[in-house]
Amino acid sequence: MQIDAARFLADLHVLRGFGASGVGKGVVRPAYSAPDLAARDWLAGQMRAAGLTVAVDPMGNLFGLADGPSILLGSHSDSQPEGGWLDGALGVVAALEVARAAREAGGPAISVVSFQDEEGRFGVTTGSAVWSGHLSQEDADELVDHAGVRLAAARTVMADRVTGDVDPAGFTGFIEMHIEQGPTLDTTGEHIGVVTDIVGIRDMKITFDGQQNHAGTTPMHLRRDAFQAVSAFNALLNDRLRNVITPSTVWTIGHLALHPNASSIVPGRAVFSMQWRDGDADRLARMEQVIRDTADEVAQARGLTLGYGPLLGLEPVAMDRRLRGALAEQAEAVAPGRWREMPSGALHDATNVSRLMPVAMVFVPSIGGISHAFEEDTDEADLVAGLEVLAGAVARLG
Ligand code: GLV
Ligand code: MN
Ligand code: MN
Ligand code: MN
Repeated sequence: MQIDAARFLADLHVLRGFGASGVGKGVVRPAYSAPDLAARDWLAGQMRAAGLTVAVDPMGNLFGLADGPSILLGSHSDSQPEGGWLDGALGVVAALEVARAAREAGGPAISVVSFQDEEGRFGVTTGSAVWSGHLSQEDADELVDHAGVRLAAARTVMADRVTGDVDPAGFTGFIEMHIEQGPTLDTTGEHIGVVTDIVGIRDMKITFDGQQNHAGTTPMHLRRDAFQAVSAFNALLNDRLRNVITPSTVWTIGHLALHPNASSIVPGRAVFSMQWRDGDADRLARMEQVIRDTADEVAQARGLTLGYGPLLGLEPVAMDRRLRGALAEQAEAVAPGRWREMPSGALHDATNVSRLMPVAMVFVPSIGGISHAFEEDTDEADLVAGLEVLAGAVARLG
């Protein structure tokens, strides 16, 4: 099959126009926002033009379906609240181009997907989690975003686009192309990463409730200050996790809401996200215990009440040997000696889809290792090399 690199790059740039941040090539396209819907409508049009049948499931996952059994390619087109132009979008647009090229050449049947809420406005890879059966629609509907909006309410904006459930039985496998989102390939100067496995993740909200009070008159020793508790918790946790972690273990408090968030008020309430990732499920469980014990100790010592949101998570998964082998052979053909096998520290829809069918992933470098930021970018030559690996691997798999 003959891929059209110029058509692929042009489509990528059209997609970044939906929710363009005005800062670099960055985008603001969170799940179910107006730019997300507009992007999905445009993608649906591209799918139709490629001869695919458009289907949207109740979560808002968007599929372009080939006739009969097919290999599924894609990723997600929602973004982080401050996102890069390639995170997710690359895999969807590459899938479209390979589907078009295969059709033009009478090649293998290829379906395309853009999953909804991969970036976790409501949880962790929510759209593919529901499609794969990892999360029930009922449980997903109860999830709330940081502004207190329920997923059940948010997804109503897509209601008139929904065509029904999409049966995974028609797909023989799933390949997701993505940017690396880390520094490895950029540092080594290699052009392609063939993923071996994807780390596991745990994510939960923690709440400290103390006493809101006057910031001028309340003596320090009488305060039940929720921010001081978060600060103490973080310092203690960093110290205690040292006995549990490896160099690739990561943990993050990325969202913190203080109430009422005013200079002259001792904050009475702090709600924050606690997320941790590792390739070993046992280690994730040990970290959870340390996190809960530490939060408990801090709350007790400071006279605060402690609350937890639901524990969300995905297990570490290995990529399928056959699909991965096809990507590796094609990587060697496209970039001889300039590619590597590597684990993914970022999460992907492929984790959920692995419950349903064989999955594999291919990475291209991220300049400076930057992602989940407006500065995210990749050299054009690497974008095209990744597309060539994806297309060639699909052709090999026939
Ligand atoms: C998903 O983007 C992740 O946080 O890895
Ligand atoms: Mn992504
Ligand atoms: Mn992302
Ligand atoms: Mn992601």
